[in-house]
Amino acid sequence: MKIFLDTADRDLIKKWISTGIIDGVTTNPSLLSTQGDNPKQVLLDICKMVPGDVSIEVVEKEPESVYKQAKEIAAISKNVVVKIPFAHEYLPVIAKLVKENVKINVTLIFSVLQALLVSKLGVTYISPFVGRWDDIDIDGMKLVQDLMKMKKNYGFKSEILAASIRNVMHWHYATLIGTNVVTLPPKLLEQIMNHPLTTQGIEKFDNDWKSLGKENLLD
Ligand code: G3P
Repeated sequence: MKIFLDTADRDLIKKWISTGIIDGVTTNPSLLSTQGDNPKQVLLDICKMVPGDVSIEVVEKEPESVYKQAKEIAAISKNVVVKIPFAHEYLPVIAKLVKENVKINVTLIFSVLQALLVSKLGVTYISPFVGRWDDIDIDGMKLVQDLMKMKKNYGFKSEILAASIRNVMHWHYATLIGTNVVTLPPKLLEQIMNHPLTTQGIEKFDNDWKSLGKENLLD
């Protein structure tokens, strides 16, 4: 499973990159709007810091402008993946960009058939939004499971990137399903780092070692 960070916060990205477990970053206009800095600068910094793929979303609306902006975004760094929301009118744009070797992440996916269509176009990532389905009392993780089955049925190459991950159980089940990629808010990583039984276990080993009264393990 690839683990991406779902944030535009450069301090948090730096902190988690140093652990060696982060494979990429996903951003969106909402995440950029929280950073209080020039968006282009934020994105350039993130692309430099991250060894893997960085998803950057288009903000244009007309298909021609989306195409033009996608090319501009793709040119800012080798590790950029252009994020485009699913829409009928964007399908030809996505097809053209894929042919021109631009890596695409299709975002705001809420159905198997949306995912099927963009898989046929050969996009790099498909992003189902788990939490937003859960928000309206529909099991978002079931969609991820169905997309993994669709991918297997037809041998599609596009990777399923579970987004809008809101809690540790989403991540847990995404792992059991075999989801290709999850993108996580940094606070979820923080949450799983400290397990009370691990902390207790370390304390017990430490106390038992000290009871031996020795300075060095291998003396
Ligand atoms: O990756 C998409 C994600 O940022 C959306 O999450 O919590 O706003 O539904 P959320």
